[in-house]
Amino acid sequence: MRTILLGPPGAGKGTQAETIVNEFSIPHISTGDIFRQNIKEGTTLGKKAKEYMDLGLLVPDELTVELVKDRLLKDDCRNGFLLDGFPRTIVQADALEEALNSMNQKLDYVINIEVNANLLVERAVGRRICKDCGQTYHMTFNKPIKDGICDKCSGELLQRKDDTEETVTKRINVYKEQTEPLIKYYTQKGIIVNIDGEKPISEVGEEIVAKLRGK
Ligand code: AP5
Ligand code: MG
Ligand code: ZN
Repeated sequence: MRTILLGPPGAGKGTQAETIVNEFSIPHISTGDIFRQNIKEGTTLGKKAKEYMDLGLLVPDELTVELVKDRLLKDDCRNGFLLDGFPRTIVQADALEEALNSMNQKLDYVINIEVNANLLVERAVGRRICKDCGQTYHMTFNKPIKDGICDKCSGELLQRKDDTEETVTKRINVYKEQTEPLIKYYTQKGIIVNIDGEKPISEVGEEIVAKLRGK
């Protein structure tokens, strides 16, 4: 299954990706995670990406598209993939379609997680991520058993640098301007699956899996 997760910052893409990839045994490809890993390792790509990410802006298409194209050629993508946070512009969407065409593949679904803007800032600002295993928590909606400690690996929980109220607000505006047009783009292609992302985490997950299995 070849799928995209679309939705504004804090909608729950990363959270739901975990359920989807377990259910369908496909790799989770998050461009945001790949950039953050590059920043951690101090690569050239990481240094360039950081300039944009810290400001809540999109990393330029030239850098992002090549990265994803290379990733999709890896062996583990042969039977499908879940893209999280890519594409984010029409240019990226067109480039993805072209790359898939050249591999004789096509997208099956675009899962569009819908959450009202007023909930997004609270979700992102309250998010905490395990420094060691990357597990995501929320201080109110998805608490760890012990404050500040990962349930899975006892790692320290940290806040993402771009999860301040100011940067999240900027990211939401960037989403509206540059990414939201993709909803219409994929609706016209007839592959969009709209999901109410305001329900509790487990219910959203069940709904996504049911829709993907039912179609
Ligand atoms: P990226 O890492 O993709 O960030 P984002 O799109 O802004 O999305 P988030 O990761 O913030 O939110 P999410 O939807 O994954 O929510 P989550 O599940 O964590 O990108 C970061 C940056 O990288 C971009 O700003 C850009 O600079 C760059 N970038 C990345 N891809 C790019 C591209 N293609 N082109 C150019 N630049 C790119 O959930 C959020 C919180 O809410 C968590 O705490 C969670 O526990 C909680 N939560 C989740 N679901 C629920 C629920 N149902 N109820 C209550 N709480 C919930
Ligand atoms: Mg995410
Ligand atoms: Zn952990």
